[in-house]
Amino acid sequence: MDLEREFEQTVAADHRVEPRDWMPDGYRATLVRQIAQHAHSEIIGMQPEGNWISRAPSLRRKAILLAKVQDEAGHGLYLYAAAETLGADREELTEKLIAGRQKYSSIFNYPTLTYADVGVIGWLVDGAAICNQVPLCRTSYGPYARAMIRVCKEESFHQRQGYELLMTMMSGTEQQRALVQESVDRWWWPSLMMFGPPDAESSNTEQSMLWRIKRHTNDELRQRFVDMSVPQAAKLGVTLPDPHLVWNAERGHHDFGEIDWTEFWQVVKGAGPCNAQRVEHRRKAHEDGAWVREAATAYARKKEQAA
Ligand SMILES: [Fe+2]
Ligand SMILES: [Fe+2]
Repeated sequence: MDLEREFEQTVAADHRVEPRDWMPDGYRATLVRQIAQHAHSEIIGMQPEGNWISRAPSLRRKAILLAKVQDEAGHGLYLYAAAETLGADREELTEKLIAGRQKYSSIFNYPTLTYADVGVIGWLVDGAAICNQVPLCRTSYGPYARAMIRVCKEESFHQRQGYELLMTMMSGTEQQRALVQESVDRWWWPSLMMFGPPDAESSNTEQSMLWRIKRHTNDELRQRFVDMSVPQAAKLGVTLPDPHLVWNAERGHHDFGEIDWTEFWQVVKGAGPCNAQRVEHRRKAHEDGAWVREAATAYARKKEQAA
């Protein structure tokens, strides 16, 4: 009873819950699920852009993209480490991902068809990730909140990187501008889907808000992202593919069209354009890397014995 009251007081006072503190089983399970899903998204998210490293248009673009994809691997590591403080083993989480028992962000189940996609992913996908993640710097679980501070700094660099690439393409040829527009047309709606189902259908939101794991609802964050993106699109000179997108002075926000929730649920349930390919690639990489893990473990054991 005392422990439970202490936990509730910690959360209510906006203090952080730390690994050794008592916490309800549901709180721990919710965090493990959310952090694992987040970690998997960082790692799977390396694939769509990694696809273009060998075909970057210049050495400069290759170095930038390589660094960006490497950052995402780092984000995955911080997050798996945060999950470990809750008793969730990284190996176990990876196995669940490969077996399809844990999810990752559905955005990464869409293919990257042109180099403009590298810019649009930086601008819109990393941009949506920032909207989702900045409030998580104040999430109630300490190790998760601290990991997010560094992740967010790097994500905002990624977004600028994408925007700069698009600005360069938009000041290029007619064909380059058309590539950017075509890419925006494909990524805009899936980016809006990154905030998850509408609040009315989001089963975990209410409890997560009470525990201060989540700080804003899906629809609030989605609105924030739309309002942020509209002036950026105008500055870039691209059209967002939504005829219903219009400023609503009364609400002080942009109204926008209905998301295709049938597509959203299809992709979430595994029937997106690249779901099978992404998981298969991850499975193969994990198996191919087994010798590295074995060698590292053997080396650590040897050092321990020597000490
Ligand atoms: Fe990331
Ligand atoms: Fe990123």
